[in-house]
Order: sequence, then structure tokens, then C-alpha cells
Amino acid sequence: MTAVVEAKGVDAGYGAQPVVHGLDLEVHEGQVVCLLGPNGAGKTTTMLTLSGELPQLAGEVYMHGAPTHAPLHRRARAGLSYVTEERSVFKGMSARDNLRCGGVDPVYAIALFPELEKCMGTRGGLLSGGEQQMLTLARALGRHPRVLLADELSLGLAPLVVDRLLAAVRQAATESGTGALIVEQHARKALRYADRVYVMSRGRIVMALDAAEARARLGEIETAYLSGAAGPEAAAPPPAPGAVPAPQGRPAQP
Ligand SMILES: Nc1ncnc2c1ncn2[C@@H]1O[C@H](COP(=O)(O)OP(=O)(O)OP(=O)(O)O)[C@@H](O)[C@H]1O
Ligand SMILES: [Mg+2]
Repeated sequence: MTAVVEAKGVDAGYGAQPVVHGLDLEVHEGQVVCLLGPNGAGKTTTMLTLSGELPQLAGEVYMHGAPTHAPLHRRARAGLSYVTEERSVFKGMSARDNLRCGGVDPVYAIALFPELEKCMGTRGGLLSGGEQQMLTLARALGRHPRVLLADELSLGLAPLVVDRLLAAVRQAATESGTGALIVEQHARKALRYADRVYVMSRGRIVMALDAAEARARLGEIETAYLSGAAGPEAAAPPPAPGAVPAPQGRPAQP
């Protein structure tokens, strides 16, 4: 099965300085793949590079099996939707116009998130954080993307809203075959919706697991990589049993 998006040996960063090293990662059709890691691990840099916003410094990114160096707008035309870390609602525009300018039918968005119905005439800037993210995700999924990249979709949102957003991503993967790569701080929640997991630390993939295994080992993963002690300045933790050192990194089996 061909990956909808894949990185092989990718170094990525800003200017000539890589902050992500030897990235091997793949997302298949219909899969939700979760990228976990502490602050500064390189998750956003990874998303920017897979989306075409940042050129890779080494290695190759593939979309639907073909290597690509295309910028984001061309990858978007080839079926990629990218939800960035910053909330991307147009604040002065109504929710309805936010959808329309993304080419998305408000009826689709309301079917996905019924609570948006009452907000359609409201300006984006006046929506709650949860409503803004539902609108953002509806706009991204309403294009029926083959690839969804979502960076911290649920940052700062109430637990119930986090579940709604993750469930919508799961549904798009299961029902429409979207391949989704999501960066999530709510690891425990995200693992309930994901098929596979990559753990990134200090710019490298250190674990590649299926979600069931990651759920079983979440305590260990949190202690080794996700707690405050695993930040970029911390000493490298000892590899957890089964951890995949990046140079021999094995992309988890689809
Ligand atoms: N625009 C930039 N220019 C130079 N270095 C950057 C830039 N953005 C991020 N970095 C550095 O790249 C490294 C990885 O950052 P990145 O934002 O990818 O991490 P992250 O895993 O997304 O963290 P967070 O959980 O805080 O969002 C960090 O050391 C960061 O300081
Ligand atoms: Mg980030």
C-alpha cells in the first residue's frame, strides 16, 4: 500500500541548520497517525516540511508515492490540508464566509459539528476557541483531503471539544480514506483515535509503535519523553525497550 505522505531520511530546519534529523515517517490512506513529543522536539518543523512550507535540507518527501518539492499551495491542490499551530480563522469574516472562501459548503460543516449552525453569521473573531477550531477543522476536512496535517488542533480546549475534534479526524480517515498526521499534547486521548504513533525527541523519531502498544506503554513514554524533564535541554533519556533509534528507524507497519 502506498503512503499518502512519507518522509525518508529527511533533515529539516531553518536556514541551513537542521533541527529534525533523519526523519523516517509514513502515513497511509485511512490512517490516523499521532506525532508525540515534548516542546521543541521538532514536531511543527516536521509538519511544516511535510506540507511544503519549509524545504527539506536532505532526504525526500513523497506524496502518493512520488517525490515532491512542491510548495504548500501545490500540495494543497494535490489533496493536502494543513491545519497550522496558529488558529487560522479569518476573524473579521463570518463563520459562513470562512467556510465559503475555503470552498466548503456550510451544510457539510454543520453536519460535522452541529453546534456551528447557530454561529454561521458570527464573525470568526467572536467565536469561542472551540468553535474556531471546529470551523478550522471543518474547513480543512470539507475539502475531502487525501492528507490532513493537523498541528495541535486542540491546544487549550476543553476535553469534550478535544474529543469532538479527534473524532471528526477519525471519521474522515475511516469513512473517506483521509490519511491524517496529528500533533497532539493530549497523548492519552489522541491514542484512543490513532492507529499508529511516532514519538519524537530532540529532532529524531525515537519510537514508532501501533496505537495499542503505545497505549499499553503510555506511562513509560510519558516519563521518558513527554514530561517536562524531557525538554530539549534535558539529558537524552535512556532508550525505552523497543525504542527505535533514528538511524535504524523502522517506520511502523501500516
Ligand atoms: N523559525 C525558527 N527559526 C529557527 N529555529 C526555530 C524556528 N522555529 C522553531 N525553531 C527551533 O526548532 C526546534 C524545534 O521546534 P518545533 O517548533 O518544531 O518544536 P515542536 O515540537 O513543535 O514544539 P512545541 O511542542 O513547543 O510546539 C526548537 O529548538 C526551536 O527553537
Ligand atoms: Mg509545535
